[in-house]
Amino acid sequence: MEANIKRAARIICQSTNTIALTGAGISVESGIPDFRSPGGLWERFNPIEYGTIEAFKANPERVWQMLEEVSHLLASARPNPAHTGLGRLQELGLLHTIITQNVDHLHHDGGATRVIEYHGNAKTLSCLWCNQRYNTDELEGQIPPKCSCGKILKPDVVFFGEPIPTKALKESYELASTCKALLVLGTSGEVAPANMLPQTAKSTGAAIIEVNVEPTVLTNYLTDIFLQGKASETVTKLVREVETIITESQQNS
Ligand code: APR
Repeated sequence: MEANIKRAARIICQSTNTIALTGAGISVESGIPDFRSPGGLWERFNPIEYGTIEAFKANPERVWQMLEEVSHLLASARPNPAHTGLGRLQELGLLHTIITQNVDHLHHDGGATRVIEYHGNAKTLSCLWCNQRYNTDELEGQIPPKCSCGKILKPDVVFFGEPIPTKALKESYELASTCKALLVLGTSGEVAPANMLPQTAKSTGAAIIEVNVEPTVLTNYLTDIFLQGKASETVTKLVREVETIITESQQNS
């Protein structure tokens, strides 16, 4: 692992344009379960009944049983060293943008300055019937939260069957098409169209560096350097090695 950390750190230092794609695994150590690992959200809530826009329209009260549990986890979650480590890479000018599938806002809370929320975020809610929008903290405690028109509100996160926000889709594709290195952290790579971004980056010559506790569908056919381990300790090691390289190059110059 140490040799791969050094290789990955050298790529990050030499790359003129590195981006990251993150998934739920980067927030597991912040107390938010992922979706597809044992004990994950989709093991306890059937995604067909709780995760699709059709399910929400048909039975919003039931979907809010899951959303209530998730919103309590989001409220108490704090960024872990993986979030703050990526924020540090941005501060060093070595990580252009983080494209995240997560809706927990923890990259921002961890100091990241350029983040694309590919699946929206849970900070606002909208009414599917009258289009009014509310800030989540305006509706503290109301479960399920209701619009002034009386209908149940939906968090502004992308459910299965909904489109990716156009701006996020376009910007992410452009970044993946032009980056020189792509860090992929804590995602199973199971869900389109986010899982097309590593393919896009690879096809235009980017180096793919993957951080995960286990191999994924991406590992054997796309990944150039697989750093197996928990995101927080792996990113911490990576950033420490990057800073060592920077210090040594400053001393030699
Ligand atoms: N460190 C690193 N990786 C981890 C950790 C950890 N501490 N814990 C779990 N993982 C890995 C798992 O091995 C898995 O590969 O994170 C990945 C999480 O995969 P998923 O649960 O499928 O989450 P994600 O890839 O983000 O799902 C994509 O699916 O349900 C939709 O909209 C939802 O954004 C989500 C999308």
